[in-house]
Amino acid sequence: MPNSITSFMTVLALGGLLAPGCVAAQTGAPRPAAAPSTAAPTQAAAPPPQPAPTAGQLAIQAATEKDYQHMKDLLGIKMLRPGVDGYGHGPNPVNYDESKADMHLPLPDPLRLANGKRVTSAKVWWTERRPQIVKLFNEDILGRVPPEVPEVMWQVVSVTHEKNGDVPIITKKLTGHVDNSGDPAITVRIDLTLSTPANATGPVPVIMEFGFSREFMEMLMKRFPQFKPPPGPTWEQQVLALGWGYAEYVPTSVQPDNGAGLSEGIIGLANHGQPRRPDQWGALRAWAWGASRALDYFETDPAVDAHQVGIEGHSRYGKAALVAMAYDPRIAIGFISSSGEAGAKLYRRNYGEQIGNIAASGEYHWMAGNFLKYDGPLTVADLPIDAHELIALCAPRPVFISAGSMQAGDGWVDAKGMFLAAVAAGPVYRLLGKRDLGTAVFPPIETPLISGDIAFRQHTGGHTPAPNWPTFLEFASRYLQVRTAPVLAAAR
Ligand code: GCU
Repeated sequence: MPNSITSFMTVLALGGLLAPGCVAAQTGAPRPAAAPSTAAPTQAAAPPPQPAPTAGQLAIQAATEKDYQHMKDLLGIKMLRPGVDGYGHGPNPVNYDESKADMHLPLPDPLRLANGKRVTSAKVWWTERRPQIVKLFNEDILGRVPPEVPEVMWQVVSVTHEKNGDVPIITKKLTGHVDNSGDPAITVRIDLTLSTPANATGPVPVIMEFGFSREFMEMLMKRFPQFKPPPGPTWEQQVLALGWGYAEYVPTSVQPDNGAGLSEGIIGLANHGQPRRPDQWGALRAWAWGASRALDYFETDPAVDAHQVGIEGHSRYGKAALVAMAYDPRIAIGFISSSGEAGAKLYRRNYGEQIGNIAASGEYHWMAGNFLKYDGPLTVADLPIDAHELIALCAPRPVFISAGSMQAGDGWVDAKGMFLAAVAAGPVYRLLGKRDLGTAVFPPIETPLISGDIAFRQHTGGHTPAPNWPTFLEFASRYLQVRTAPVLAAAR
């Protein structure tokens, strides 16, 4: 993820990867530019001018609208409530006023069984309550992974001895070939790159980012030289300084990021190109599935300590990283950056992005079709879950929730809504013998809350993970360590 490019959307738009209207128009072009004053910008500038759509983009948009309509027809939905306008315009402007940020309470209780009984033991959490929560996310929110998803065969495409800064590294380019013998018309190749220190004496912890391919980033940087990486070591160099390795996983190599793509990618392949049923998986779960396949590869690579793999994702990939961590217990730690609505932010809080934005045609493909029901006829208060329960599914593993500042343009993700979700996940961590955030009081910006197993920090920058990398790595160092040969042998 480019540290200097503040918005994921900007990156995609610059790369010509967005079908116009697919996201920006539907969501009300969410991210106000940095405001000159410290006052919370409730009214931001107009949306940036969009380049004229290409024929390809128009085709994607048309196919997206068709799939979206098909899903609404399946659900018998005539009307959805529109999302909020991120630029503060129109009849339904985004709320950035804390005094108006009401919450539809109560939040669902993660420690109360469907039959109303309280969960008082770890055993009941694991055997009864956790499966209930997973089922709710599967049915109505994120969708079910089909029982038979084709196998992946990993291929090491190249091995390069190179340097990152002063550190000699070995970089492997990997491709995960998904078996498409059932439907040869659909090809899915998972794009993964792994770099480990060349002088490592054994397997090392690895942090895997959900991001863009190196080629794509190089192309962007060439085309837009004004976007320079910020000074100081990159996140990869910070990871290497600890003796760990890093990996880059490209979620869109698993599943395209639009509704049109639901007949392709792993979702399309598993469905033989047919449209989804309302309970089937959306892109967030597909991207998370791909991350789990990367874990499968790491388990076979002697350079990687597969018990010590952490993940990081930002924005929509922050949502996907949280989903991956919730569903795959092998993921040791997570850095969930600016994930916002459908990520770590409480749906029930009326601040920043709202459910109607996610249910719009630019984002609905992230979710199960059933999710649309909660934007009409049902409401957010009817949701059977909320974001704190997605965080709770990560327990007892450490998770770091991160956001930028309102003033620099990250209000859309609702830092406080994510903080409150992290607080509300606390009882589950405590039940499992772990530490919660340590406070229920929203801290001043730049305060690291990293002494528990759920961690939080809001930085003063914009929509970027960059300023929180050092804090995340300080937190992560409590859990991940390069293990010496005798320790490793004892662990086996
Ligand atoms: C939009 C969307 C967010 C998402 C973001 C991104 O702003 O509304 O939910 O996180 O795009 O991924 O860049």
